[in-house]
Amino acid sequence: MTNREVGIALLGVGTVGGAVARTIAEQRDVIEARSGIRLVVRRAMARSTERVVQAGLPVEVATTKIEEVIGDDGVDVVVEAMGGEEPAATYMRLALESGKHVVTANKEALSKHFAGLVATARSSGRALLFEASVGGGIPLMASLRQILAVNRITRIRGIVNGTTNYILTQMAERGATYAEALREAQQLGYAEPDPTADVEGYDAAYKLAILASLAAGRHIRPERVDRTGITGVTPEQVAEAGARGGAIKLIAGAELDAEGWRLRVGPEFVPGDHLLAHVRLNYNAMEITGDRVGPVVLYGQGAGPQPTASAIVSDIVDAVRFGAVLTPEIAPE
Ligand SMILES: NC(=O)c1ccc[n+]([C@@H]2O[C@H](COP(=O)([O-])OP(=O)(O)OC[C@H]3O[C@@H](n4cnc5c(N)ncnc54)[C@H](OP(=O)(O)O)[C@@H]3O)[C@@H](O)[C@H]2O)c1
Repeated sequence: MTNREVGIALLGVGTVGGAVARTIAEQRDVIEARSGIRLVVRRAMARSTERVVQAGLPVEVATTKIEEVIGDDGVDVVVEAMGGEEPAATYMRLALESGKHVVTANKEALSKHFAGLVATARSSGRALLFEASVGGGIPLMASLRQILAVNRITRIRGIVNGTTNYILTQMAERGATYAEALREAQQLGYAEPDPTADVEGYDAAYKLAILASLAAGRHIRPERVDRTGITGVTPEQVAEAGARGGAIKLIAGAELDAEGWRLRVGPEFVPGDHLLAHVRLNYNAMEITGDRVGPVVLYGQGAGPQPTASAIVSDIVDAVRFGAVLTPEIAPE
């Protein structure tokens, strides 16, 4: 095997970007032995260069300017781990246009700009990969790609938000109120100081829109998701669900019927004889139904630095090995 050095740029060195840097450093030899690819972080961008150094990277790779990333010929793959819609979406487009593969964990930017980013990747002949954007370390995109090669996907249903699942689990198992469970989730780092994106169902809607777009082969925007959060779920409702042998879960569901895709995120009663009722704490699970394969369930850690970095670094290796063929086909809306 001919070994090849591949230059990486990190946009963002927070929870996810920092974990990607550590994973590359710790797994470099293993990755090289298995793929022949030696990963080297050549650029790392944050709002300040101090943040890059705090993340354990050398000051020589630190930058605060996107021009220094996209203009660097030594960078082959750009990892977008900044979050938010903008400037992340623009930076991903610029990176693809300048001939770099892009790997992202950003469900918001991807779900809102999916068709445009895919079109840019395809016209530039580069990979746009996003395994970590839904389900953290769970290989959902790889499984969808495998199933989609033969099946028509008719249904996607599951738990894609670890924060709300943690809160609902604490309410069910400890009798906590919503406010108590949220506070605890925040103390443990499972919930952001501003929990709106999680508890109001936006995060789940972004993820559902990405999965449904892949299943449909067409951009389905997150605004099309009929969305309800968990802030109105009461301890009495949770206790009653438990007494009936089931659980209340924030379910993200997309279903194909005669009129097209119907998408919904909201709290639902899940009967005890269904796998989803038993997904506890910050775990995620997704059931994908294909017309030939039937229902397939994937379960694992839907967030957290290590699982997320695992998915991102796998995407980097795939981007280098296979390139643009892995970029999906997503038609405009
Ligand atoms: N955390 C998880 O478990 C997880 C799991 C799956 C996916 N994700 C996704 O991964 C992405 C990153 O999440 P995170 O938890 O790592 O966030 P984070 O800890 O807040 O880190 C964000 C990083 O991006 C940098 N950044 C943000 N805006 C920037 C800008 N305009 N210019 C330059 N740098 C900027 C920040 O710079 P400073 O350090 O200088 O502020 C920081 O280094 C998000 O899309 C998130 O949804 C996260």
